Parts: sequence; structure tokens; C-alpha cells
Amino acid sequence: MTGSTLENIVHQLYAQSNTHCNSGSVANYIPQLAEVAPEKFGIHLCEVSGNSYSVGDSTEKFSIQSISKVLSFALAYTLVGEAIWTRIGVEPSGTAFNSLIQIEIERGIPRNPFINAGAIVVADILLSKLPQPQEDFLNFIRGINNLDHLDYSPVITASEKAVGYRNIALCNLMKSFGNIDNEPEAVLDFYFLLCSIEMSCQELSQLFLFLANNGISPHNHKTILSKSQTKRINALMQTCGFYDESGEFAFKVGLPGKSGVGGGIIAILPNQYSIATWSPRLNSKGNSVKGIHFLEAFTSASENSIF
Ligand code: DON
Repeated sequence: MTGSTLENIVHQLYAQSNTHCNSGSVANYIPQLAEVAPEKFGIHLCEVSGNSYSVGDSTEKFSIQSISKVLSFALAYTLVGEAIWTRIGVEPSGTAFNSLIQIEIERGIPRNPFINAGAIVVADILLSKLPQPQEDFLNFIRGINNLDHLDYSPVITASEKAVGYRNIALCNLMKSFGNIDNEPEAVLDFYFLLCSIEMSCQELSQLFLFLANNGISPHNHKTILSKSQTKRINALMQTCGFYDESGEFAFKVGLPGKSGVGGGIIAILPNQYSIATWSPRLNSKGNSVKGIHFLEAFTSASENSIF
């Protein structure tokens, strides 16, 4: 499909999703996220070949929340290698992103790195391995695509910490099983910070393009992950990126992807493009209603997915 056709499809379907798909509500369990205007809607698509297309609120920053779980996991994977799988599994959980049930039954080992429990273990690993965890993580994500102004939001971090009861429970439960090495409070502070990273759709899709390019940043040609690590992260996004809606996302959209309760979604078509959408109204699973609607229409109209 030519670039201009893809661009036309993005614009047409943006208008269509904006008109026909306005259900869902903004995340309100983190007070600061409840302040975001629900009608925001942006899209940015970056092709490996160098073209990019934007529409709507695509340059406005938002809280990427759980999308950061892919980036923190990518860094931990490069530091620990295959040994990481002794502490985290690779199966879909079939439960909500903040569920406690399996952690008790499965003795402190989270099903995958993209549920909250898995990302809390990843935060623990990064705390143990990085000399200056906050700065080092920021430098890692900034360096992927020379996006030097990416940053945490202290306001969002504090807002989530004030109501972080379920994450506190998850971290303590895993500590009781011996799967958290550091003090739970330090691990949680770092986890909340990781979730608070802010980006626009443009930055998000530029940053994630390395996952469509065998682990190499097309922008500065840096190798971020090996080919095999890239395959595995994309596979985990496909099977676990939308929690207990992962099967439905695969069924409707057919791309590896990851969502966040800030209303963002990133999706990858290997060797072709990365696409970021942002619309803060969420469904009951914590995923963006309009973002999923748009992406389903987009892969159908462009007749291109991994399947
Ligand atoms: O820990 C939390 O609950 C949030 N910081 C992140 C949750 C999230 O983004 C789930 N995604 N759809």
C-alpha cells in the first residue's frame, strides 16, 4: 500500500471514530488522570521507511502509564537476559491488570511482565541493577530515538502513590514469597515513577519504531534489543498487552500492542510501522475505547496485520 493511501485511511477513520465512538470514561482511580479532557484524540503513525502521518491531538503529551511496562521490561531484559524468566512468566493472565488472585495461587511469580505485578518485579530488578535507577531509565528511553526531553511527571507519581493500595498489596504479597529483593516502598516509588512518563502520540510512535525494525532504532541505528528479544517482546504484547482483553485485541486488530490507563495505545506491524493512538475514555478493562475502535478499522481498511 502506498504512503498516501495509508495517510488517507488514517484521516478518514480518525473522523469516523471521532463521530461514532464516544462511550467509556476517563480513569478516575488515579485522581490526576480524572482531570484529563475526555474528548482528546490523537494518532501518529511512523513507517520504518521514514514516512509519518499525524492527525488530531498527536503532539500533546499524556501519561503513558502501563505502556512504560514495555520499556522498563526491555531495559531489564537487556540487563538480566533469559534469567529474567525465573521471576516472571510469559502467559496471558486472563485477569485484570491489578488483580491479586494469581499471585497468591502461583506463589509470587507474575504471569507476565505487562500486568502490574510483573512490572513491579521489573522495577525491583532495575533498582538492583542500575547505579542510578531514575536517571538511567530516563537516559535509556531518551537514547532510543534521541528524544532528550522525555520526562517523569512528579504530580502524577504523587497522585498514584496516594491511592496505590492494590499495588502496595501486590508488592508486599510478592515480597512475602521472596520475589522482591528491595524494600517494597522503594520498589513502589520507582514503579509509580515509571508509570508517570509523559509522551505525545508522535513521540510514542517514534520511540517504539525499533520494535518494528528488529530491535534497531531506525533514527540513530542503535541496537536496542537483539532480534530474538524483539520477537519475544512483540509476542508478549500480542498475548498480554491488553490484560483480560488481549484475545479480543488480537481478534479485532491483529497487531502486537500495549495500552495504558492514560488512554494511550501503541501497536506495531513488524517491518512496517508503529502507530500510537490517544483517547482517554476507557472501557471496563482499562483500555481506550476509541483507540481500539480506530485500530480495528485501520487494520481492516489497510488489509494489513500480522495474520
Ligand atoms: O499501576 C497502575 O494501576 C497504573 N499506574 C497503570 C495501570 C495501567 O495503565 C493499566 N492499563 N491499561
